Amino acid sequence: VAQAVRTTDDLVIRAASAEDSAPIADLLTQLGYPCSPEEAKERLATWRADDRGGVLAAVIGTSVVGFVAVHAIPYFERSGSWARICALAVDRLHRRAGVGRRLVHACEEAAAGWGCATVEVTSSRTRDDAHAFYRRLGYEDACGRSGRFVRELG
Ligand SMILES: CC(C)(COP(=O)(O)OP(=O)(O)OC[C@H]1O[C@@H](n2cnc3c(N)ncnc32)[C@H](O)[C@@H]1OP(=O)(O)O)[C@@H](O)C(=O)NCCC(=O)NCCS
Repeated sequence: VAQAVRTTDDLVIRAASAEDSAPIADLLTQLGYPCSPEEAKERLATWRADDRGGVLAAVIGTSVVGFVAVHAIPYFERSGSWARICALAVDRLHRRAGVGRRLVHACEEAAAGWGCATVEVTSSRTRDDAHAFYRRLGYEDACGRSGRFVRELG
């Protein structure tokens, strides 16, 4: 992911760095996945090494107010790739102000750069707010078209 994907007004979308570990851990916790700054730092290091994926931070001034993690996956059954948004959260004090939209648009730009044909995100059936948000951004609920099978290992 490029160092600074887009900058307008006072909101900057940029690649997340180790210095963002504490606010990103807090945002992951708000998302329902309790996380320590140390764990966030380790994950950010893993993701920074991925040249077809990354974590983007939404920053106002010096505050990280949101993040998104996106990763490109090559198709095998046809040419090209698709992108998956793995996690997205905006701080509860900064919601409904366009931050989430900017993060998703930045993902789409990055995904297009990786040659992705589509962007996909899975989101728990309990997250009605997030589903309204994705629909507003033009995302279609495609679950009726395919099943999702998961098996826990060990
Ligand atoms: C879902 C989430 C990322 C949205 O971010 P946000 O910054 O509040 O969203 P935006 O302000 O950019 O909204 C973009 C559009 O979606 C709409 N929207 C956002 N939240 C909405 C909601 N709860 N209900 C209806 N529409 C909503 C906005 O009105 C806006 O449309 P508009 O520009 O036409 O008015 C944020 O609410 C969040 O972090 N929620 C908790 C974590 C979560 O559910 N993450 C997704 C997990 S899959």
